[in-house]
Amino acid sequence: MAIKNNRIVIIGAGAVGCSYAYALLQQGLTREIVLIDVNEEKAAGEAGDLRDAVPFAPVPVTIRSGGYENCRDADLVVITAGLAQKPGETRLDLLAKNTNIFETIVTEVMARGFDGIFLAATNPVDILTDVTQRVSGLPEKRVIGSGTVLDSARLQSALSACFHIDSRDIHAWVIGEHGDTSLPVWSSAVAGMKDIRTMAAEEGQQLDSIFQQVQSAAYDIIQQKGATHFGIGMSLARITRAILQDERAVLPVSARLNGEFGENDTYIGVPAEIGRHGIHRVIEIPLDETEKKQFAHSVRTLKETREGGR
Ligand code: 2OP
Repeated sequence: MAIKNNRIVIIGAGAVGCSYAYALLQQGLTREIVLIDVNEEKAAGEAGDLRDAVPFAPVPVTIRSGGYENCRDADLVVITAGLAQKPGETRLDLLAKNTNIFETIVTEVMARGFDGIFLAATNPVDILTDVTQRVSGLPEKRVIGSGTVLDSARLQSALSACFHIDSRDIHAWVIGEHGDTSLPVWSSAVAGMKDIRTMAAEEGQQLDSIFQQVQSAAYDIIQQKGATHFGIGMSLARITRAILQDERAVLPVSARLNGEFGENDTYIGVPAEIGRHGIHRVIEIPLDETEKKQFAHSVRTLKETREGGR
């Protein structure tokens, strides 16, 4: 599999799919974007609106709406379609309905001879990435979920505000389920190369309460405005850049574990090296005893939910 023509097909022209398309356009990450949606008129309207922005983009981009036949030559098919959380719902509550939607979408895409990389963003993203891999039969490394990239960005932003340090100099990861059992890896978190626990103790900051804000961020935003889409749109663009530019960037995407972290047979947010061929490898960072227990609980939650949803 080689990157062919930088065509990205986005399935789902809702707020997440369109924020992602806008981020791609702004960052000049691709030359061709196709939007597919069950509501063809909406997809056509969104493509038209995005086209109006092309003259201001750093590189020329072709943007249109279309059908599944566009997947055949695509490098990347990004799935953002499905039901989103309503106030009070958890991500795992969406499993049954979104699994059915994913089975249909992935079958349609594969029927067109797709041979690129899938990137899934719909919730519950870890389990739906697993569904995408199983239904498509593509190699595991070519099926990626957005994982905890967004959660980690939220953590970086919160720590940046707290310590007044540029978020790019904060290396703090959230791993596990993209959901209620995710966990911060404080044991290896640093701000400007300084251990974050030491810094928090010196400055009288409570790391636990900072993480609580991160975990409730999506619930708060959904309560306030009905949906989250800018953060995930930029997170998907970040993963896309790593793939198309063969960066070998390490990002906490949803990847299937095969013995790493002592776990198997589950897609979950873990640091992984991302490049042109998808997931090159999972990076097994050290976890302390508490983090190991929290991670095992997160894996168990996903597996039980997946088995219950089948
Ligand atoms: C988010 O974390 C709802 O999963 C979505 O913003």
